[in-house]
Amino acid sequence: MPQLAYVDGRITPLRDAHVHVEDRGLQFADSLYEVAAIMNGQLLDWEAHVARLRRNCAAIFIDFPISDTALTAQGKRLVAANGHRDGLLYLQVSRGAARRDHSFPSQPRPTLIMTVRRFDFAPRVAQQKTGVGVITVNDMRWQRVDMKTTGLLANVLAKQDAKMAGAFEAWMVSEDGIVREGGSTNAYIVKDGAIITHPLSAHILPGIARATLLRLAREAQIQVVERGFSLDEALAADEALLTSTTAPLLPVVRIDGRPVGDGKPGPVAARLAGLVWNEIARQTGWRAPSLQ
Ligand code: PDD
Repeated sequence: MPQLAYVDGRITPLRDAHVHVEDRGLQFADSLYEVAAIMNGQLLDWEAHVARLRRNCAAIFIDFPISDTALTAQGKRLVAANGHRDGLLYLQVSRGAARRDHSFPSQPRPTLIMTVRRFDFAPRVAQQKTGVGVITVNDMRWQRVDMKTTGLLANVLAKQDAKMAGAFEAWMVSEDGIVREGGSTNAYIVKDGAIITHPLSAHILPGIARATLLRLAREAQIQVVERGFSLDEALAADEALLTSTTAPLLPVVRIDGRPVGDGKPGPVAARLAGLVWNEIARQTGWRAPSLQ
């Protein structure tokens, strides 16, 4: 079966799916996106992704081109048509195509595209046993990274640095030494049983997986502290972790090649991972191989 994509109301084979060369997403990154997990054929946290996209569109004055009900129907249709049990649904809304001019076109027609690709979440369960390493880079991004725009060049460069260093992620550190988040994940440390993570602000993305993790932790009476933490604090922490749609929870065991705690995944990460995978199973019926 050919891979299928959605472009402005039509589902077409991926190879035939095109946007205009003067689409403002292409020329100005005047566009927003979401990545939602498909697990066991179901969309995880779908409403939260749609709400974030809609909120971001409003913030940059893009008229959201479709109702939530229609978007959900089209998204599910595309997922079903692609036939992957486990995968990722990518959505992007741009301000549309117009003659190149920085200010908004007088009658914008936003472009909505969606693609689906296979993604195997099972290796994430295995990675939980070993943990992952991160490097640190200066946060070179603009001042509104709470909006999920496709202007990701700083993230792209950070993640390429991580890849070349053999690390899973790059943690982006502010000028005053505060760890903000990873190139495509949120960042946490654990100290004396409490989870510490950067508060919601214009300097981090309000991750959907972050919201889930903090809710589950609070429900389990694990203390959550939303405050900035420094790199030194992270290196002296008992544990560290990261979350995202594509990595629901992974222990971070090395930062810039130095061990966090004893350099092995710790008990708090293990407990939180159990809570996260249970929540995923509750929503989607997906079960990690080792939990079956
Ligand atoms: N990235 N921080 C950044 C900078 C991100 O790009 C992401 C998501 C996250 C985690 O957000 P969520 O829990 O909603 O996935 C945090 C997606 C997966 C991506 O760009 O592929």
